[in-house]
Amino acid sequence: MGEKSNSRGWCGWFIAIIVLAAVVLAIVYTVKLKIKKSGDDGAGPVPGPPGAIDKKYADALKLALQFFDIQKSGKLENNKISWRGDSGLKDGSEANLDLSKGLYDAGDHIKFGFPMAFTATILSWSILEYGDQMKAVNQLASAKESLRWTTDFFIKAHPSDNVLYIQVGDPDLDHPCWERPETMKEKRPLIKIDAETPGTEVAAEAAAAMASASLVFKDSDPEYSSTLLRHAKQLFDFAETKRGSYSVNIPEVQKFYNSTGYGDELLWAASWLYHATEDKTYLDYVSKHGNEFASFGNPTWFSWDNKLAGTQVLLSRLLFFKKDLSGSKGLGNYRDTAKAVMCGLLPNSPTATKSRTNGGLVSVSEWNGLQQSASAAFLASLFSDYMLSSRLHKISCDGKIFKATELRDFAKSQADYMLGKNPLGMSFVVGYGEKYPEFIHHRGASIPADATTGCLDGFKYFNSTEPNPNIAYGALVGGPFFNETFHDIRDNPRQNEPTTYNNALLVGLLSSLVTTSSVLQSLK
Ligand SMILES: *[C@@H]1O[C@H](CO)[C@@H](O)[C@H](O)[C@H]1NC(C)=O
Ligand SMILES: *[C@@H]1O[C@H](CO)[C@@H](O)[C@H](O)[C@H]1NC(C)=O
Ligand SMILES: *[C@@H]1O[C@H](CO)[C@@H](O)[C@H](O)[C@H]1NC(C)=O
Repeated sequence: MGEKSNSRGWCGWFIAIIVLAAVVLAIVYTVKLKIKKSGDDGAGPVPGPPGAIDKKYADALKLALQFFDIQKSGKLENNKISWRGDSGLKDGSEANLDLSKGLYDAGDHIKFGFPMAFTATILSWSILEYGDQMKAVNQLASAKESLRWTTDFFIKAHPSDNVLYIQVGDPDLDHPCWERPETMKEKRPLIKIDAETPGTEVAAEAAAAMASASLVFKDSDPEYSSTLLRHAKQLFDFAETKRGSYSVNIPEVQKFYNSTGYGDELLWAASWLYHATEDKTYLDYVSKHGNEFASFGNPTWFSWDNKLAGTQVLLSRLLFFKKDLSGSKGLGNYRDTAKAVMCGLLPNSPTATKSRTNGGLVSVSEWNGLQQSASAAFLASLFSDYMLSSRLHKISCDGKIFKATELRDFAKSQADYMLGKNPLGMSFVVGYGEKYPEFIHHRGASIPADATTGCLDGFKYFNSTEPNPNIAYGALVGGPFFNETFHDIRDNPRQNEPTTYNNALLVGLLSSLVTTSSVLQSLK
């Protein structure tokens, strides 16, 4: 007995050791495989399982994407919004073009090319980094579809190398009316840029949109992807060789989307083109023009007008993940400035921005304040994930050390604020949570789908003290002021109008938070 039991004991230990060794080997092998699969140089992010799903963000992401369906112009396909129908079908006809697709900008029916292109670029970026997480919550197809609806527009809007249609509809005709897009009868004039009247910022932003989207569709639709890339290259050449600000050349655009300069868009577009082509010319471009355009060392806010912070984060990505960047000088300046942006966002950093409300929301503008909260949080999430994926865990801000996870916490704090964790106890995403804006400044949402109105009698619904009859699910409104007041009335576009670029940024932010994993799918 004694002997037997003793020998069984040895045998048991032996088996246990063999099993343990097998497990260890299996783990080592899997990890190795993953690293190998992730990139040629082994330095790329390690793909892993998406991690546990956070239902709160998953629900909000689904809504945020639905807003793009509400904003679609043209002959709708698979329309899921009961109160939306076809509209803008003749857009572009005065130039014999089909510009019916694309997105209405906000609560009105203008298709403004400059912010629309930015919306597309941000949707692409979100899909490229977090497509696997979108997929885990069944939202990838919706995101790609809305992106394609927008890039379809830009393909048609770019009929020859140096011509780009940058606006459909005229605010002076559209804004005096309060009507549904389905019933609008006003003229829909077009604005274009060309060699005589160039518009570098909008051509470059369209190039960024199409270059980034070409990566999104690279595997699923190679032909579409190469069409996009061809347009992107042409548009960048147009933007660069025929330099001129669209706001200067077409002063009427100043009233709505006035650009403060085109240097940021040139760098941003070149950065995306480098990612899409790996053609070093584009990398040399950002190296060469950094001092001219990039405002190194100065943190800026990321928005439809200013792409610098986004460019800095996107170029940092290269330094995080790519080893062979020989000869590309100056990328370090981009990363250092991206770090300065991050240090400004961390609430306990010595260089923390003062533009933060008592409730912790980044707030820099009275018009559409949530744009910068969403954009800052999206960039912080990205940067934190770049750090974690490349196993860099700490960041130093004026000597004080912060963890990558603290950037992610900041990103979450902004998302949570928008979703209801704020002094007003309300969500700023329509349809999310118990309390949310019910009177948003949005023509389609405020007029019953069966009402027949003309331009002016629709104001009956604008004037109504009843909540909007149609809930514009997913719309992120402009949001609270710095003093954390918010007035939920229709006649309040500063705070209560949604925009497509806000929603694109929200989609990026939420898809970064939707799972507990912070490992990136990766652009390559
Ligand atoms: C548009 O921006 C330019 C450059 O920043 C500025 O000079 C101009 O005054 C702005 N126009 C309007 C209407 O705000
Ligand atoms: C809506 O209210 C404005 C301002 O009070 C008024 O001028 C307009 O006539 C009203 N329109 C309708 C259709 O009720
Ligand atoms: C909050 O800020 C807004 C915009 O600056 C201002 O109009 C409003 O009076 C302020 N409200 C309070 C209660 O301070």
